[in-house]
Amino acid sequence: MQIPTNHTSLSTTLRNRREKLTNLINFPAILWSGSPSIRNFPLNTFPFRSSSHFLYFAGLPIEDAAIRLEAGKLALFMDNPPPSNLLWHGEIPTRDRLAEIIGADAAFPMSELKSHAQNSATISVQNPTTKITQSQILNRDIFPSNKPQEIDLELTQAIISLRLSHDDTALTEIKQAAAVTVEAHKAGMAATKNAKFEANIRAAMESIIISHNMTCAYPSIVTVHGEVLHNGEYYHPLQTGDLLLADVGAETTLGWASDVTRTWPVSGKFSPTQKDIYDVVLAAHDRCISQIKPGVEYLDIHLLAAQVIAEGLVDLEILKGKPEDLVEMDAHALFFPHGVGHLLGLDVHDMEDLGDLAGYEIGRERSSRFGLGFLRLNRPLIPGMIVTIEPGFYQVPAILNDLEMQQKYQNIVNWEKLEYFSDVRGIRIEDDVLVTTKGAEILTQELPTNTDAIENLV
Ligand code: GLY
Ligand code: MN
Repeated sequence: MQIPTNHTSLSTTLRNRREKLTNLINFPAILWSGSPSIRNFPLNTFPFRSSSHFLYFAGLPIEDAAIRLEAGKLALFMDNPPPSNLLWHGEIPTRDRLAEIIGADAAFPMSELKSHAQNSATISVQNPTTKITQSQILNRDIFPSNKPQEIDLELTQAIISLRLSHDDTALTEIKQAAAVTVEAHKAGMAATKNAKFEANIRAAMESIIISHNMTCAYPSIVTVHGEVLHNGEYYHPLQTGDLLLADVGAETTLGWASDVTRTWPVSGKFSPTQKDIYDVVLAAHDRCISQIKPGVEYLDIHLLAAQVIAEGLVDLEILKGKPEDLVEMDAHALFFPHGVGHLLGLDVHDMEDLGDLAGYEIGRERSSRFGLGFLRLNRPLIPGMIVTIEPGFYQVPAILNDLEMQQKYQNIVNWEKLEYFSDVRGIRIEDDVLVTTKGAEILTQELPTNTDAIENLV
């Protein structure tokens, strides 16, 4: 584990975070980091990723550790590595050293956690083994479960309210991730000319991330089949006339994410039909970002994207009718089925381990409407929040070939006209946007979005 050189400022940040938590809850909380998942034998594990709630207060991705937070104090629980570890993994900082680095007030071996666990709240980690430990140590079910404990819900809401708005340390980290991501996308565009397969471009992009000692914040999407929204295949050959969609983001060593998508022509030149649709998506992207400021409802940003896409598709004669009516009947969702974006922070879809508790304001629930059901964020924007803005246009066979959809939208879609646009399978344009006190700052602004600049980079 890499120890940050400026760990004094990290420990100050961590102290501030736990003091803020103290103002929100009046009971102890225990947060676990999780264990590495075993691949085939105990020492061959998948890469470890700490629970983000642990990371937020402990700062470092310490494996098999827990922290107890109470009244602004932090106690670290972990076992020192056995001496045999030295041979295979070299020297690992001891419990006392890590406690000092993160500014802990006390440090104990794991065996002492149970005796410090009475009446503590927690949040469930993803790792199943650790989840069982959580239940055993607290001697009860843990949230999320069928019967969430009141204190776990209270802790969850308190942590959400802190993590919704990023402090300076988080912003510095996310900006670093964003800068590397921008570089990765430029490298991907530059590599296209000599690339034969999607995998070649993925390699060019991820090599930038790896060479900055970062990791990918999520499985990269680098595909000429952008109509598969989270395409995880990289074997397709690149052909003249294809659009390549790359949704790739870096994550810093302390776990802070970025999330960027660009779509570019393999040949270096958008066809007229590709440019027409690209400019509709870009108009939605730009209009949405121009509206971002505190107090604005993210749902309204999503509906604005839907409206601009409906307008553009009417202008291109793909959709028929009044754009407002088309949005009302979810016709835009035939081509833009997902939400316009999500929270970004320690996770790419920040705090989605909590279901919709973070994404949705208390009292709001996800709509079952086709055009709203995949919206991940429905809150008013506040300063310090980072959101993605990622409108898109896709020709998803599962949607467009669905008989019910075809019947419902039979007179709304100009199916013949749509045929002209068959060289547009998927386009998404995504940036990371910080809500400031006055408006917005695009953290990934250095990466161009307009077709001329993209053609130049490719
Ligand atoms: N970057 C993938 C997503 O936002 O879902
Ligand atoms: Mn995204």
